[in-house]
Amino acid sequence: MDSQNISPSPTASSGSVFAHLVRAPEDPILGVTVAFNKDPSPVKLNLGVGAYRTEEGKPLVLNVVRKAQHQIVNDPSRNKEYLPIVGLADFNKLSAKLIFGADSPAIQENRITTVQCLSGTGSLRVGGEFLAKHYHQRIIYLPKPTWGNHTKVFTLAGLSVKTYRYYAPATRGLDFQGLLEDLGSAPSGSIVLLHACAHNPTGVDPTPEQWEQIRQLIRSKALLPFFDSAYQGFASGNLDADAHSVRSFVADGGELLAAQSYAKNMGLYGERVGALSIVSKSADVASLVESQLKLVIRPMYSNPPLHGASIVATILKDRDLYNEWTIELKGMADRIISMRQQLFDALRSRGTPGDWSHIIKSIGMFTFTGLNPEQVSFMTKEYHIYLTSDGRISMAGLSSKTVPHLADAIHAAVTRAS
Ligand SMILES: Cc1ncc(COP(=O)(O)O)c(C=O)c1O
Repeated sequence: MDSQNISPSPTASSGSVFAHLVRAPEDPILGVTVAFNKDPSPVKLNLGVGAYRTEEGKPLVLNVVRKAQHQIVNDPSRNKEYLPIVGLADFNKLSAKLIFGADSPAIQENRITTVQCLSGTGSLRVGGEFLAKHYHQRIIYLPKPTWGNHTKVFTLAGLSVKTYRYYAPATRGLDFQGLLEDLGSAPSGSIVLLHACAHNPTGVDPTPEQWEQIRQLIRSKALLPFFDSAYQGFASGNLDADAHSVRSFVADGGELLAAQSYAKNMGLYGERVGALSIVSKSADVASLVESQLKLVIRPMYSNPPLHGASIVATILKDRDLYNEWTIELKGMADRIISMRQQLFDALRSRGTPGDWSHIIKSIGMFTFTGLNPEQVSFMTKEYHIYLTSDGRISMAGLSSKTVPHLADAIHAAVTRAS
């Protein structure tokens, strides 16, 4: 073609084909870190992101993870071939054992399909898309409030998101009555998202007796439970105790989904290691489920990454490494629990107005402080402390050295910025 006949397209002369884009807002959680990184203050403190820090305020690579990595890189028989669509077989088996318990009848009866996914988020997304395609009811109920990404993940997966009451600001505890009423009036078959333990952002979990009532209600209304297990072992320091809710729903023989993340409990955040399990009524159905999950995954990201899953499988299958992991995990959980006590004591000793006992009662990585958005922005401006605007603080980002600074900031926010 004669080049002289090619006239420039109108878009080429007026600039980029993307020039019309409107700037998207930062993610409400990850945006906190963006703002934190820009702050030059030496006393700045990031309590926004849910990532564990040591007493020195540093990210932690578990010793057991270093050992497993060492074994992996020094094993000449390993290669970098693609994993199957469903991921590493050993990893999937061991992940199911970890969450459902080694003696789970559902495992023995081959009623569970487990697929390796991209951490907790990817597991939720694959599960959501599978349900949108193959389950008869498209409505998913999320607790109010919930982890900020849930709504987007499930909406984009093709489900219709509704909420059930969960948190009562007045008591800073569970709105159990509201929860029962909302799930009790949900259309039959609706999907219900449940945080397996360490509810994010509130740090409020049902008691075992309340879990039992929730289970009975869910089963009696033929609702479908979808557990999000992002903190197994991180809440209490005990892997079995933190899986109690999930296991009680498997024990009744009913069906469910469970998304697992190894981000927090093995500190493998950036490796993106997680699993989605679907518990069915029979081995035949479980195998149909697997065949369809592959069709969800293949066009999404083809197959999952190898390295993180190899680390997890190495640790879970070796008794010594597994034991070492449980000790390190308990160490992280205990440090968080001790931060709760220290912050509570610091506020009490300052005479900060209010009842701060929820700080020691909350479970897991976060405390929902009850601070309002104005108080939060005051703390950021005056004290360089970064947290999400809903007043959630990551206890894992605190240390004995930074507790006094946070307590000063909360005290000033409550007494001056209210
Ligand atoms: C409740 C909950 N679910 C899922 C996730 C997903 O985490 P990841 O995708 O990093 O495993 C998180 C992370 O903060 C979470 O708090």
